[in-house]
Amino acid sequence: MTKTAFVSGATAGIGKATVVALVKAGWRCVATGRRKERLDALVAELGADKVHPCVFDVRDGETMDAAIAALPAEFAGIDLLVNNAGLAQGLAPAQEADLDDWQTMIDTNVSAMVRLTRKLLPGLIERKGAIVTIGSVAGSYIYPGGNVYAGSKAFANHFTLALRADLHGTGVRVTCIEPGMVETEFTMVRTGSQQASDDLYRGADPMTAEDIADTVLWIAELPPHLNINRIELMPVTQDFAGFRVARDKD
Ligand SMILES: NC(=O)c1ccc[n+]([C@@H]2O[C@H](COP(=O)([O-])OP(=O)(O)OC[C@H]3O[C@@H](n4cnc5c(N)ncnc54)[C@H](OP(=O)(O)O)[C@@H]3O)[C@@H](O)[C@H]2O)c1
Repeated sequence: MTKTAFVSGATAGIGKATVVALVKAGWRCVATGRRKERLDALVAELGADKVHPCVFDVRDGETMDAAIAALPAEFAGIDLLVNNAGLAQGLAPAQEADLDDWQTMIDTNVSAMVRLTRKLLPGLIERKGAIVTIGSVAGSYIYPGGNVYAGSKAFANHFTLALRADLHGTGVRVTCIEPGMVETEFTMVRTGSQQASDDLYRGADPMTAEDIADTVLWIAELPPHLNINRIELMPVTQDFAGFRVARDKD
C-alpha cells in the first residue's frame, strides 16, 4: 500500500530533496512551504498524484490547521511526519543580536514544529507511523553566534527523544537526524548574502541535501520493530570547534 509523508519546508534544501527521494521510492508526499511556485514546480516534476502542495507559513497555526483539515483523502492519512522547516537568522553574539531574529527562530524551529507534531500525532498513532525531525549538531555543540538557533535545535533534539517516551507502546517510531554542514539555502537565509554562503561552502566538500534525504528514506523504510533514536552526520571535512580561552593581555 502506498504510504504518505508530510514534509514541512519542501521548497528548498533538505525538505525538497526528501520529497524527491520519498516519491522516487514510491511514497506520496504532502509538501509544504511559503513559496508556492516552488511547490508547483515539485508537483509538475513528480506528479499531482504523488505530491500535494500546501502553501502556508508554519508560524500561522490556524492556516496550518486549515491546510491539514483540507487535505484530499488520498493524502490525509499521514504515515511519516518529517519536521524539517526551519532556519537560522543572524550570527551576531547574543549581546548584539536582533530580538526579532530570535523570535523568528523560536516561532519556526520550536513553536511551529511542536504544533505540527501535536496536530498529526493522533493519526500517526492510529497508523503506527513515524516522526523524523531534522535537528542539528548545533543542538549539541556550541559555536559563537549560535545562541538561539543552537538553543532551538537543542530543543528539537531533546523534544524528539522525549516524544519516544510518551509514545511508548504505540508503535510510532521517532528519530532525530542531527546534521552538520549541508549546502542548501540555509546560509543564504541566515546571512542574507550569497557571497557569505559561497564562502562558507567553498572547498569544504559539505554534505548535500540528498545525503540527508537518503538518511530520512533509510529510516522511514526500516522494519517496524527498529527505531533509530538519533543520528548525527557531518561531512568528513568538519569536526568539533573546541574550547577557547580568553587571556589577559600582558
Ligand atoms: N543546512 C545545514 O547545514 C543544516 C544543518 C543542520 C540542520 N539543518 C536544518 O535542516 C532544516 C532544513 O534546512 P535547509 O538546510 O534545507 O535550509 P533551506 O534550504 O533554507 O530550506 C528551509 C526550508 O524551510 C522552510 N521554511 C522556513 N521557514 C518557514 C516558515 N516560516 N513557514 C514555512 N516554511 C518555512 C523553507 O520554505 P519557504 O521559505 O518556502 O517557506 C524551506 O523549504 C532546518 O530545520 C535546518 O535548521 C540544516
